[in-house]
Amino acid sequence: MSEVVTYNREGTVGVITVNYPPVNALSHAVRSGLVAALEQGQKDSGAKVLLLVCEGRTFIAGADIREFGKPMQSPGLPEVMDHYENSDKPMVAAIHGTALGGGLETAIACHYRIALSSARVGLPEVKLGLLPGAGGTQRLPRLTGAKKALEMITTGEFVDAREALELGIVDAVDDGDDIKAAGLAFAQKIADEGKPVRRVRDLTEKLEADKGSDVFDQFRASLEKKARGLFSPFKCVDAIQAAFELPFDEGMKRERELFTECMESPQRAGLIHAFFAEREVSKVKGLAKDTPVRDINSVGIIGAGTMGGGIAMNFANVGIPVTIVEVKQEALDKGLGIIRKNYENSAKKGRISQQQVEERMALISGSLTYDDFKEVDLVIEAVFENMAIKKEIFAKLDAVCKPGAILASNTSTLDIDEIASATGRPEDVVGMHFFSPANVMKLLENVRGSKTSDEVKATVMAVAKKIKKVGVLVGNCYGFVGNRMLHKRGAEAMSLVNEGATPQQVDKVLTDLGYPMGQFAMSDLAGIDVGYRIREERRNAGENVPASWVDKLVEQNRLGQKTMAGVYKYEEGSRKPIPDPEVDAIIADFRKEQGITPREISDQEILERCMFVMINEGAKILEEGIADRALDIDVVWIYGYGFPAYRGGPMFWADQLGLDTILQAVEKYYDELGGDQWKPSALLKKLVAEGKSFGDL
Ligand code: 3HC
Repeated sequence: MSEVVTYNREGTVGVITVNYPPVNALSHAVRSGLVAALEQGQKDSGAKVLLLVCEGRTFIAGADIREFGKPMQSPGLPEVMDHYENSDKPMVAAIHGTALGGGLETAIACHYRIALSSARVGLPEVKLGLLPGAGGTQRLPRLTGAKKALEMITTGEFVDAREALELGIVDAVDDGDDIKAAGLAFAQKIADEGKPVRRVRDLTEKLEADKGSDVFDQFRASLEKKARGLFSPFKCVDAIQAAFELPFDEGMKRERELFTECMESPQRAGLIHAFFAEREVSKVKGLAKDTPVRDINSVGIIGAGTMGGGIAMNFANVGIPVTIVEVKQEALDKGLGIIRKNYENSAKKGRISQQQVEERMALISGSLTYDDFKEVDLVIEAVFENMAIKKEIFAKLDAVCKPGAILASNTSTLDIDEIASATGRPEDVVGMHFFSPANVMKLLENVRGSKTSDEVKATVMAVAKKIKKVGVLVGNCYGFVGNRMLHKRGAEAMSLVNEGATPQQVDKVLTDLGYPMGQFAMSDLAGIDVGYRIREERRNAGENVPASWVDKLVEQNRLGQKTMAGVYKYEEGSRKPIPDPEVDAIIADFRKEQGITPREISDQEILERCMFVMINEGAKILEEGIADRALDIDVVWIYGYGFPAYRGGPMFWADQLGLDTILQAVEKYYDELGGDQWKPSALLKKLVAEGKSFGDL
């Protein structure tokens, strides 16, 4: 008898129970247990109807992803689904939590479904670079019709139980919280009413309605934009279309072929790496699982600018009151006004209700005095990057805040230890680096200072989860993980243009790799005056900062998108970067001034120099222990900078490419170009010598 799937009878209902924590994934043990339990139910003459229900927090959350890439042990999932659909006793699935992927496929292979109103269902395989491979692409359209099946399967988005009822995915919804009781009552009703088995494979009405329509072509055209660079969404459409054009068994065969193509694609490997990496980052090396976490029930923010406002919204969104302190009433009013406008925009788009706008705004208050920070549990400083000002602020916070309050800086580059030295409690000081727009971007790069206590580290990681961000804990150095690597890429991109490339050529190589925007379009978005001011400050301090053509743009008030001209030009109301001959002329003049004869630069050189310089830096970051694992770097780049998740993150991408290839190129550029950034990382050399990859660390 399987331990993870059991069979017992309650009255005339035969109950099959799955109990495989944490999420009842369809491992080999569960699949074989399901088949064995079904057999028992079929043989049990006292059972008139069979019920499938799960223990724990959720219904089956899908295939066991950890088994992917290994040989499939029989019975395979489609086979299990066949057994359930072919049951000659009515088969009921009772859904709580989330029925996802193979879990929803199991439910729709059953004859009837009931769900708790709190439950959600979906086919998120596409997010792992796959398509539903156990009949989902053939059965779901038979319940919902083409349009909704296309939407659900190509986006992987979940629908809640009420919507699932309207769509015909479930037959009943229960408002209680006891899934077993609800399932038993529903199954009993099926038995009492003598309802027959009802196989989804035999339903044809929805198929007939959409057969031969142009819905598939239209959908493919819309995907060209929405799913740029992705492999599996298009395969999903092919599979769903097969449901409309082929008999069920042949449609299943087609689904299997397409599923295998996706399974073998490098995108599947990248996306599954990203899935597990996102979960692994919360397990911080050296931080005990039972480290106490401080309660954060109120937050203070210094600075009502774009960053401060965005950060405040994260807390208000989850019901945590926020006090924002500014120096001047005008700046405060402006900041609060922008927050309200952002919420109103979300309400206009139907993402939140007007009542939620008011509730969230009521949680955000403004003030001009630090005295209002006396009782808060966490303060986040979000003023501009200037060490002297930050130190002044932290000294004031130290004087005002209660013992045990966490004092955090949203600095994107500066030394957390130096900031902490302005206080008498460096153990309570930490970096919390949000990414712009802070209410949207999922990354929270938490930076540990050398004295930050474990309790504070654990708390800021818990805060990330609470505000629905992906928190990564990193060490303290200039730019931490993300910006330290980004700045190396930025400098290389500049050099490439100095030597002869155009900004648009550099950007295209990066967008072709899958980034949502290139280096120069990104700097236009952020405002190119930011870097200019930093360079000027360094020049004033006597540092030798080389001249750059970007400085000339700033001097002509081309500051980026905000002035509708920067490295590119922009049309009114559009964010689309348009190459500008005026900029080409400025670059050409700059080269002349510097005595540079431009040369043709290949896309391959751009790719290598922009990406390998980052990988080399990433290796140094690992070497120095700034990041604990390569996967921490991958998550920073996926969630902070839009690195394509289907490539698994820069370090995973490097592993796929082969570290020896990368090292060879790094050594070549070190010889040709010199510079610390090209000095090969000792770790990279060691890994290549040992035939290992970053993933082996
Ligand atoms: N297989 C194996 N392990 C899984 C898993 C799965 N399908 N889903 C989740 N897990 C693991 C996680 O890795 C994590 O492990 P850890 O504790 O060791 O880190 C643990 O279960 C808990 O997961 P979360 O931390 O994500 O818990 P949440 O409560 O936040 O979320 C969830 C639960 C919504 C189920 C979320 O885990 C999820 O979205 N899982 C993936 C669902 C999915 O993509 N299913 C489709 C699989 S592909 C498929 O079914 C193919 C088929 O068509 C043939």
